[in-house]
Amino acid sequence: MSVHNALDVALHAAVADYVAHNPRSQTLCEVAAHVLPGGNTRSVLYHPPFPLTMVRGEGCWLWDADGHVYIDTLGEFTAGLFGHSDKTVRAALQEALVGGLNLSSHTAREARLGHEIQRRFPSMALMRFTNSGTEANLMAVAAATVHTGRRKVMVFDGAYHGGVLSFAGGGSPVNVPHDWLVAPYNDLEYAAALVRRHGADLAAILVEPMLGSGGCIPGTPAFLRGLRDLASDCNALLILDEVMTSRLSFGGRQALLDITPDLTTAGKYLGGGLSFGVFGGRADVMDRFDPRRSDALAHAGTFNNNVLSMAAGHAALSRVLTAEALDALNARGDHLRERLNALFAYEGVALQATGLGSLLTLHATDRPIRNAGDLAGSDLRVKDLLFFDLMARGIFLARRGMMALSLPLGEAECDCVLGAMLEIVELRQALLPQRHAVQLM
Ligand SMILES: Cc1ncc(COP(=O)(O)O)c(C=O)c1O
Repeated sequence: MSVHNALDVALHAAVADYVAHNPRSQTLCEVAAHVLPGGNTRSVLYHPPFPLTMVRGEGCWLWDADGHVYIDTLGEFTAGLFGHSDKTVRAALQEALVGGLNLSSHTAREARLGHEIQRRFPSMALMRFTNSGTEANLMAVAAATVHTGRRKVMVFDGAYHGGVLSFAGGGSPVNVPHDWLVAPYNDLEYAAALVRRHGADLAAILVEPMLGSGGCIPGTPAFLRGLRDLASDCNALLILDEVMTSRLSFGGRQALLDITPDLTTAGKYLGGGLSFGVFGGRADVMDRFDPRRSDALAHAGTFNNNVLSMAAGHAALSRVLTAEALDALNARGDHLRERLNALFAYEGVALQATGLGSLLTLHATDRPIRNAGDLAGSDLRVKDLLFFDLMARGIFLARRGMMALSLPLGEAECDCVLGAMLEIVELRQALLPQRHAVQLM
């Protein structure tokens, strides 16, 4: 049998095993499909034949409906940085509940959380809260178009800025209809050419400092700093979407690279594990949202200052996520990624883990990956096989191969991930793409 066919057979068997071991999850998905299309209300969670239904989480562990236990390496796609049951966050939520929900008013909590966020991201001279990263980006882009009086927005192929701001494969039919200019990631020349052509109409450059959903592909410092200069040169705003990357250091990736954006968007873990988003930046841009102004821009949202997100976010940032704890988490991720890549190199298989700090994605290629185009030729069946093999060994991750470590996930759990991967690579050796003679650094 050819490797091509053998891979299909192995994948088929791994999926059949998954189905056989997860009857309850399958039934629950079928029941859910009576009210939710495909049983799903959040696209990223679905994968064929059906996703697992989780019933409980504790620390960095998950239990599914069929009674299996997993190490949760996915960490709610970065929002679950504190794990499932952080004591400090829970106590803050309980205290907030005692004080009452839905107060229909300003509370003191939003300013307290704002100060914590500003301590980390001083480029956010003023900020406003939303319920999600999607909304934060929608508002930041809207602010940029109003501030500049221009309509075009540069974004990057493979980027994800939210459910209606998705640029995988160039764009999505449900995207908001801004005048997008889509450029390849990490290609400063291309971006510069777009600015030469459209600079006078460009409101903003919106960029993730690392493509997160797009495969944990870091932007090079030269690319990201170059975008800063390009935006300044044509008086457009640079919007850094740090919804995922803000966790890469106390001050996010902008601090690591010493880049001051005009606007930053963030969310995920900053709400302590509850729904949250924030956009903020230059005072002269954000000031337009000051409701005391006669020309104030509206920014509404019933739950923008909801008591629970405010309480959880403040407790998590002020009392749990110290700079030391965050550095240790990112060092753990770096170590895991290095060990995975060393294992792939040693075994001679063309797999790699990309990313930065506590974020990584597995890819079925050993070529350098700088943008979405570099992933075009890799065999997605290999990634699927790794996914089902890891899940069968109790390692929970995203089907696209993403992991986002949480604070309770320690070296011991990282060792389990590595052990499972070693077992899989040795078992599947003959089916995996082989490394080329020139090795990755
Ligand atoms: C970089 C980036 N921006 C924006 C978003 C959207 O955030 P949310 O899911 O909270 O709307 C995400 C979500 O994964 C993201 O990764």
